[in-house]
Amino acid sequence: MTAMLLTEKYRPQHLGDIQGHSKAIEEIVSWLESWTANSKPLLLVGDPGVGKTTIAYALAREYGYELFEVNASDERTKSMLQERVEGALVQQSLFGTQKLILLDEVDGAKASERNQLTKLLNKSQFPVLLTANDLYERGMAQLRQKCKVVKLKHVHTNSVKAHLKRICEKENITYDETALKSLASKANGDVRVALNDLQSIGDTIDMHTIKTVTPRDTEKNIFDALMIIFKTQEIAKAREATWNLAEDHDMLLEWIRENIIVEYEQTADRAAAYAYLSLADMYRGRIRQRQYWHLLKYVYDFLSGGIASAKQEKYRKFSKYRFPTIIKKRSQAKQKKETRQAIEQKLKATLYIPSSAVYSTLLWLQYCFNNDDEFRIYAAESLGLSEKEQQYIQQL
Ligand SMILES: Nc1ncnc2c1ncn2[C@@H]1O[C@H](COP(=O)(O)OP(=O)(O)O)[C@@H](O)[C@H]1O
Ligand SMILES: [Mg+2]
Repeated sequence: MTAMLLTEKYRPQHLGDIQGHSKAIEEIVSWLESWTANSKPLLLVGDPGVGKTTIAYALAREYGYELFEVNASDERTKSMLQERVEGALVQQSLFGTQKLILLDEVDGAKASERNQLTKLLNKSQFPVLLTANDLYERGMAQLRQKCKVVKLKHVHTNSVKAHLKRICEKENITYDETALKSLASKANGDVRVALNDLQSIGDTIDMHTIKTVTPRDTEKNIFDALMIIFKTQEIAKAREATWNLAEDHDMLLEWIRENIIVEYEQTADRAAAYAYLSLADMYRGRIRQRQYWHLLKYVYDFLSGGIASAKQEKYRKFSKYRFPTIIKKRSQAKQKKETRQAIEQKLKATLYIPSSAVYSTLLWLQYCFNNDDEFRIYAAESLGLSEKEQQYIQQL
């Protein structure tokens, strides 16, 4: 793969190469084409990595404007800002070409600087394009009123995926479609993040290698995923439900196992669902024993599409899905073990007893605790036992 940053190497040069935003781009273009000295500046608002700066540059290039950029959050002092901006707003372009002024990330500027900017904008003899992440940042209101606002939404997962795919092909990166979609989805509409994740993984994109990538922002909730899997009969939809899940396949399997009988009532449906569940379990076993990670996609397929297709008819009811019992028990057991270890540590440290004497000491303490409250309080204090640890001893 290239040593260059993918975000730079594949920064779209033309408006047509930008993923998504087609309506917003139309608006921006018509603003520029019909611009007169009385026009409002244009404020482009959107979350990081959706393409604000890229659009500004592509716009200037495509329409033959010289782009004059001032990064509002970089220019440290008010006077510098004023000088730079004021100069740009009134001076003719060096090359006699048209000039487009970009004030990037104006919400990052201090409120006083922003007020300054707002005043300066009136003087502009050139089209001014401003960008901001957050329209509702304190002090943006004034600026907002002066501008024509265009909002950029998050780039749709499908568009991000298509973009990643084209890059994989150019860079000879091997990919698996599902993993690529999942990678795109994890970026949550931030193309910059998606490209950086892609680059960080390296030359093979599959369900295993993308595990290192953490989802951004909105993780799909396991309850939403279960609802889709159990309610839909469309296999594709069910599969998609597992793509941006915070839980891994082991957890998903336990959630499905627990809730098949909650959702499905017909015996035939249950039987079919359990058949898919056991297939998933079997494949999971092979992955564990032999590290056959390429089988992971089938585990997900059985748990999503398989389970969804197990029903003859949809159940049009509300189901209250349950937390997997086995996980609850496991975590209780783990907690108990931890409590026990903590108590042992304390006994050994305070009473100087060997490990072999811990159990008999505990039995003795239990007897005393249950028969003499005053002793319990006194001993708990000198041994430093928490409420939970005292309870553990009493119920030993
Ligand atoms: N809509 C998009 N289509 C294609 N690439 C994009 C898009 N948005 C962002 N990128 C990629 O992400 C990088 C960062 O985008 P940028 O325009 O700087 O985002 P912003 O200014 O909104 O934070 C770009 O270099 C480009 O490679
Ligand atoms: Mg930017």
